[in-house]
Amino acid sequence: MDNATRLQYLEAMGIDVWLPRASANHEQAAAPDAIAGNTLPEQIDNWETLQAEVAPCTKCDLCKTRTQTVFGSGNKNADWMFIGEGPGQSEDQQGLPFVGKAGQLLTEMLRAIDLDREEVYIANIVKCRPPANRDPKPIEIETCKPYLLRQIALVKPKVIVVLGRVAAQALLNTDEPIGKLRGKIHALNGTPVVVVYHPAYLLRSLLDKPKAWADLELALQTVKNIKG
Ligand code: URA
Ligand code: SF4
Repeated sequence: MDNATRLQYLEAMGIDVWLPRASANHEQAAAPDAIAGNTLPEQIDNWETLQAEVAPCTKCDLCKTRTQTVFGSGNKNADWMFIGEGPGQSEDQQGLPFVGKAGQLLTEMLRAIDLDREEVYIANIVKCRPPANRDPKPIEIETCKPYLLRQIALVKPKVIVVLGRVAAQALLNTDEPIGKLRGKIHALNGTPVVVVYHPAYLLRSLLDKPKAWADLELALQTVKNIKG
C-alpha cells in the first residue's frame, strides 16, 4: 500500500494524521505508519536522518583515527554521481570529499565534460579516512557501504562514475581488475555505472589519461541517451 492510500484509509477511519512539514516537499513521508503504530513496510529515507547517522558513526575501526566523517557534497538531485574510495588527509581535515590534489584533478575532469562540481554529487565508499591512506579493509567497506547506497537512492543519479579500483570493486561486488572493469557500462539496481581511473592514479600515470577521457565520454553518452 502506498503512503497516499494509507493516508486516505487513516483519514477515513477518523485518525487525525499530522505530517511533518518536510513531507510537503517530499523530503519525508513515513509518518502515517508511525502514528498508526505499524511496523514500516517501506521506510522512506531522508538526507537529515542519514547525515545525522553518519556524523557520529562508530560502526567500524576507522572512527578511531578520523578527525571527522566526510559525508559527501554537491547537488542532491544530480544527474551525475561520482564515487571515490575514502577521505585522504585534506578531506579528513575539511570534512569534504575530493578537496586535495586528486580533488583538483577531479574538478578538471568534470570541467572537461562541461560539468561544475556544484552540479554533481560526490561521495566516497567509506566516510572516514583510513590511517596513512591505506586501502579500506573489506569489513570497513561492508560496514560503511549501506550509507553510500542510501545516498545513491536519495540522489537517484542518471549515471554513477566510480573512481578507481577499490571503489569500483566495492560498489560492483567484484574482484575484476580495473583494466577489465573500465570501458563498459555496468549497472547498480538499474542505474548505469561507469568505472574511471582514480584521479590520484592519473596524477602518477599520465599514459592512462586518454583511457580516463574515453570512459568519461562513455558516461556522457550514457546520460545523453537517457535524456534523449
Ligand atoms: N580520494 C578519494 O577516493 N576520495 C576523496 O575524497 C579524496 C581522495
Ligand atoms: Fe562509520 Fe563508515 Fe566511518 Fe566506519 S567508515 S566509522 S562505518 S562512517
